[in-house]
Amino acid sequence: MSTVFEGKVAIVTGAAGEIGAVTARQFCEGGARLVAVDLDGRGLTTLTDALTRDGHDVLGLTADVSATADMAHVVDQARRAFGGVDILVNNAGVEGVVEPIESYPDDVFDRVMAINVKGVFLGMKHAVPAIQARGGGAIINLASVAGVSGSAGVCAYNASKHAVIGLTRSAAAQLGAVGIRVNAVCPAPVTGRMITSLETGFMPEDPAAARAAGEANNPMQRYAQPEEVANLVTYLAGPTASFLNGGAYMVDGGLTAKL
Ligand SMILES: NC(=O)c1ccc[n+]([C@@H]2O[C@H](COP(=O)([O-])OP(=O)(O)OC[C@H]3O[C@@H](n4cnc5c(N)ncnc54)[C@H](O)[C@@H]3O)[C@@H](O)[C@H]2O)c1
Repeated sequence: MSTVFEGKVAIVTGAAGEIGAVTARQFCEGGARLVAVDLDGRGLTTLTDALTRDGHDVLGLTADVSATADMAHVVDQARRAFGGVDILVNNAGVEGVVEPIESYPDDVFDRVMAINVKGVFLGMKHAVPAIQARGGGAIINLASVAGVSGSAGVCAYNASKHAVIGLTRSAAAQLGAVGIRVNAVCPAPVTGRMITSLETGFMPEDPAAARAAGEANNPMQRYAQPEEVANLVTYLAGPTASFLNGGAYMVDGGLTAKL
C-alpha cells in the first residue's frame, strides 16, 4: 500500500459521486485521513461505511458546497477531527439541463453557477487559511473539456466550467507564494450518471445513439473511466507534482486535441 499521503488530511466534495468516490478511496489508500462531503447523505454513508470497514480514517459530512456556512463547518470539522487540512478537491458539480439559450431556465442557470462556481470559490475561501496553517498543500478543482470548448445546449455548464478554470488561475497566482498549488482537471465524458443524464437531454428519443456518437467522437473511441480522472487528481495533490501550479490539465483521450 502507498504511503504518499501519510499524515495528510484531504477534503473531497461530491464524494458520493462517480469520480468523487474513486478519488476519495485513492487518497485513503495513499494513507490520507479523509473528509468526504456530499449533499447526498445516503450515498455518503455508503462510501464512508465501506472505507471505514477497510480500516481508513474517514469523516463524512452532509453539506451543500454552495452554502458558505456549510463549507465553513466542513473546514472547522476537519480541523477538530484530524487537526487541519492539506488537500482540497472541489469535485461536487451538476450538469443542469440540455436546452437552447433562449429557453434555458433562469433557475437552473443560477443553480449550476451556485454549485459549480460559487461552490469552488467557497471551498477555497474556507480551506485556504487551514491549508496555509499547515505550511502549504494542494487544491484541485474539477473543470471539464466543457471549460475549454463549447457544446450546444449546455450554456450554464459550459460557462461554469470556464469559470472554474478562471478561479483556479486566480487562486494559483495568489497562493503559489504560500506553498499552495491550485490546478484544474478537465475530463472528457466519464462513464456514469452525469453523462447518462446529458445523453438523455441531447437525444431523448435515442440516448444510446447519443452515447455511441459521443464515444465515436473521441480519438480513443470511448468515454473515460472515473479511475482515469482520479489518477490525475491524486497525482496533482501529491509531492511528485511539486512545480505544477495554475494548470488546466486535460484527461480527455485527445478529444480537445482535434478540431
Ligand atoms: N461525468 C462526466 O462526464 C464529467 C466530465 C467532466 C467533468 N466532470 C466533473 O466532475 C465532477 C464530478 O462528476 P461526476 O461524474 O462524479 O458526477 P456525479 O453526479 O456522479 O457526482 C457529483 C456529486 O456531487 C454531489 N453534489 C451535487 N450538488 C452538490 C452540492 N450542492 N453540495 C455537495 N455535493 C453536491 C452529488 O450529490 C454527487 O454525489 C463534477 O464537477 C463534474 O462536472 C464530470
